[in-house]
Order: sequence, then C-alpha cells, then structure tokens
Amino acid sequence: MSEIQTIGVVGAGQMGRGIAQVAAQAGLDVILLDANLEMAEKAIERLGRALDRLVAKEKISAEVKAGALARIAPRSDYNDLAPCDFVVEAAPEREDIKIEIFTKLSEVTKTEAILASNTSSISITKIGACTNRPEKVIGMHFMNPVPVMKLVEIVRGLPTDDATYETTVALARRFNKTTVAARDIPGFIVNRVLIPLINEACFALYEGLGSVEDIDVGVKLGLNHPMGPLELSDLIGLDTCLAIANVLHTELGDDKYRPCPLLKQHVAAGWLGRKAGRGFYTYDAQGKKA
Ligand code: CAA
Repeated sequence: MSEIQTIGVVGAGQMGRGIAQVAAQAGLDVILLDANLEMAEKAIERLGRALDRLVAKEKISAEVKAGALARIAPRSDYNDLAPCDFVVEAAPEREDIKIEIFTKLSEVTKTEAILASNTSSISITKIGACTNRPEKVIGMHFMNPVPVMKLVEIVRGLPTDDATYETTVALARRFNKTTVAARDIPGFIVNRVLIPLINEACFALYEGLGSVEDIDVGVKLGLNHPMGPLELSDLIGLDTCLAIANVLHTELGDDKYRPCPLLKQHVAAGWLGRKAGRGFYTYDAQGKKA
C-alpha cells in the first residue's frame, strides 16, 4: 500500500483522543468517529487544550497546533470512514462492541484499508474473523497517555499478513513510537504483566496491608515506578482494568488472574477512576487529584 494519509479513529474516549492527537501531529488527516457526535467534538476541544499546554511550554508552535487541529474531523456516520487508508478502533474493552464495529468497518471502508484494534486483551484473530479481510486486521495497542508513552504493542492475528504488519510498524514509527511484537494471547505482553500487578495492589488494599497512599508510595518509591498501581488504575479506568482481568481469568483459565472483589465493587459503584471523578482517589473537573 502507498503511504497512509487518512486515518480513521473509532471511539473518542481518552485513548481515541490521544491516537487522534499523535496522528494529526504526524501530519495525517484524521476522521474521529464516535456514535455520539458531541463526544467527538468535545474530544477535539479537549485535545486543543492539551496542544495549548504544549504551545505554552514552547514544545510546539501555535501554527503546528492550528495545523494539527485543522486535520481532525469529528464524525458520527460510519460511511464517512470511506476515504480512510487505515482505521484504529479504540472503543470500550468489550468483545461484542468490537465485533459490531469491525463488521461495520469491513462494509464501509476500502477493501485495501487496514483495520487495527487498540484492544488491550481481546483476541485479534477473533476480531478479524468477523471482517471480509482478516489478513488486514491487526492489534495496535497504544499506552495511556498516548501522546506521552513511547510504546505501541503490535499484535498479529493468525491470518494477519506481513504487509499489514510492516505498514502498521511503519505508521507507529511515524508517530515516534517504539514497537514490540506480541503474540495474540490474552493480555499480550504489557497487560499480562501490568493487570496482575494492579489486581494484587487491590488485594493488598482489600486485605488491609496498607492504605491507598501507603500502597502507591510503597510501589512508586520502592520500585521506582512513575506512579503507584492504584493511581495508575484510576488513570487507565477501573472498568477497563476489570474487563482485562476478566479476559485473562476466563481465557487463560487460571485462578491466579481472578479479579479482586474490591475492584469489582468500585466498578459496580461507578467509581471508575479519573474519568468519573472518583476511583481510589477523587479528582476535580480538570482530572487533578482533589
Ligand atoms: N501531548 C503531549 N505531551 C503531553 C501531553 C499531551 N497530551 N500531556 C502531557 N504531556 C507531557 C507534558 O508536557 C510533560 O512533558 P515535560 O515533562 O517535558 O514537561 C510530560 O508529558 C509529563 O506530563 P505531566 O507533567 O503532566 O505529568 P507527570 O510528570 O506527572 O507524568 C505520567 C504523568 C506521564 C502519566 C506519568 O506519571 C507516567 O508515566 N505514569 C505511568 C503511565 C503508564 O504506566 N501508562 C501505561 C498504562 S498501561 C496502558 O495504557 C495499557 C492498557 O491497555 C491498560
């Protein structure tokens, strides 16, 4: 395929917004699609504020910011993805949602377009099987916050061909990311390691080993991590952490991955982390710890 120029991003949540930002900053035209047009428009407003902060820190110029914003179009109709050379799906971590999206994507996009999922745990082979081009379906797993984190994990489904893999790696490099290749086994590499760490921190809290702050400061300073695991789970979203833990538990069939009851309880209460204003910590409207 010739160089990717137009990219579709499906889902205007925190991951979709970050992917749209790095793509637009890399000079691509971006169609940011969400079932709710207002969500897509709000995501672009928020992304504009993130770019303002970069301008204020003199990391980018006002012209670069304006150019990046001008390249992102908010949309809610799947048919608007027709010009895309590449689409990245960043919808909630539920298999039924992903299958529905990829079924639609395979109907509305050009047959040569690559269809990527930002899934953090769901089988790429299974997602690809509901499309008319499983050889062009691939996992492109970004880390949160997308503009800051250097890694993209690339996951090939069983039928994914070499050209799709190479194009996806090249695209990640245009975004200034380093890639690692992971096999299509639940959790891939990063979440196979991270989610048990977060889940264990929840068990530590559940069993009263320490307070939220003690557990976070203990891991942060004791292991030299940039943030504690409970704070990190608030950043990722507790619903997402639980969804991944459930996939690891069900698909790998090992009870060592069973989600902590406290994590389930927080999700049931709607304490989903930073995006909900409350998780293990509480947050103000700007997402800063209260
Ligand atoms: N665009 C570009 N740059 C941005 C930005 C944006 N939208 N938002 C922030 N930045 C930059 C800031 O300008 C700042 O740069 P300088 O240091 O050069 O000034 C830098 O990022 C750090 O920003 P902050 O000062 O606001 O924040 P911080 O220093 O407290 O760091 C953090 C915040 C980057 C989140 C850090 O705590 C961290 O790395 N935490 C761990 C994150 C992590 O582990 N993520 C992976 C989660 S796992 C995952 O995502 C996979 C999954 O499937 C669950």
